[in-house]
Amino acid sequence: MSLGDTKVPLTGSEMGDKEANVHESGLGLLIESGKISRISGWEEIIDEYAPSWRHDRDYDNQRAEYDEVNIIDAKGGAIIPGFVDSHTHLLWQSDRFNEISLRQKGMTYSQISKSGGGIGKTVRETRGSTIDHLVEIGRERLDMAIEYGTTTMEVKSGYGLSVESELKLLQASGVIADKSRIDIHSTWLGAHDVPHDKNKTQYMEELLTEQLPLVAEQGIAKWVDVFCEPGWFTLEETEDIVSSAKEYGLSPRLHVDEFEDSGGLSLAAELGASSADHVGHSNSEARSLASKSGTMQTFLPGTPYVLGSKDYPPITDCVQNDWAFSLATDFNPNCWTLSIPFIGSLAAHRCGIDPISALAAVTRNPSTTLGYGDNPPVGTISEGMDANLNILYTENVDAWCQVPGMNPISKTMVKGLL
Ligand code: NIG
Ligand code: FE
Repeated sequence: MSLGDTKVPLTGSEMGDKEANVHESGLGLLIESGKISRISGWEEIIDEYAPSWRHDRDYDNQRAEYDEVNIIDAKGGAIIPGFVDSHTHLLWQSDRFNEISLRQKGMTYSQISKSGGGIGKTVRETRGSTIDHLVEIGRERLDMAIEYGTTTMEVKSGYGLSVESELKLLQASGVIADKSRIDIHSTWLGAHDVPHDKNKTQYMEELLTEQLPLVAEQGIAKWVDVFCEPGWFTLEETEDIVSSAKEYGLSPRLHVDEFEDSGGLSLAAELGASSADHVGHSNSEARSLASKSGTMQTFLPGTPYVLGSKDYPPITDCVQNDWAFSLATDFNPNCWTLSIPFIGSLAAHRCGIDPISALAAVTRNPSTTLGYGDNPPVGTISEGMDANLNILYTENVDAWCQVPGMNPISKTMVKGLL
């Protein structure tokens, strides 16, 4: 067992190496002030802190309280790190459940968008929302995500597409972050689409001269994202937005190459993006470049799933070539899942990724993209880390991504609290 430098993502066969990544069974964790302070044999810890528990042990109760310590009995269930969902569109109002029938009649994502559906429809509905309402629905959704084991989340704006509404979404995200037990990382995605009341030139101007300075001034986002895809924002526009955002201190994580290879991943690598997301159609040269420049490839297999496509991303190419990758939900009105175990199932059951590699791709690897700097990242079970943990129903850790449509997690701990 040797986790190595947890600030660096795992790649290739390291990811699936059970011996290196999974602690042996029979261990206990001592948790103090929300952090893991010691990992050793459970009996050793119990004998030190609550020796009588061995005799009092109540098999019907998972918890016991003693003067100095609370004991949580995992009852033989495997314990895995809390999930890091590094790509979500948490905040928007209304739904797009009507679009499935359009897709089943043969319309593409782009055609639905051009005919008044898609992002534009959600924007119209979200603009009417108050900040309080957005906070309320965001908190409900966050609770659902925690149920499914997520303990760190990235949240994008992008369904406002006006100065007022984009700020409102990011402010809502900030309020949720302040009230939440889990860590939230906010991303400004003003360049998600062009709003119906502006042309591209006018909107680019607004992004660069109005939205960006205000987002930076209010300190409500750490990251900038652009939907870089033919039909939405071009490579040149993406570069302009990212370069300006960098001057304001925002770092890029980008939507690229979702429907076709437009050179988005190469650009993301050149711009030093922390993460390039979707990347289903990127070419191998770009993947290699991304790997060299430290740009994480984040696959979002929930999207082809809901679009009814069999075109799952070629994630095994990353394993074979030692290119770092992550997995995330892409929760949005078109892809309504906050379940990382379901995304893990898509990776395992549809994309050929083994469960232990898939686990690294939803824990340790994405945490390295979130800018923890000198602070310890999250996403591993090691001394000094936040005690963000999931207790599974099963002893076998491989189960975490093999119960599609069901929840493998019996308990989720966030910073030491259940
Ligand atoms: O990542 N592709 C761009 N944005 C979202 C979808 C947004 C939507 O359809 O509302 C995504 O898949
Ligand atoms: Fe997305």
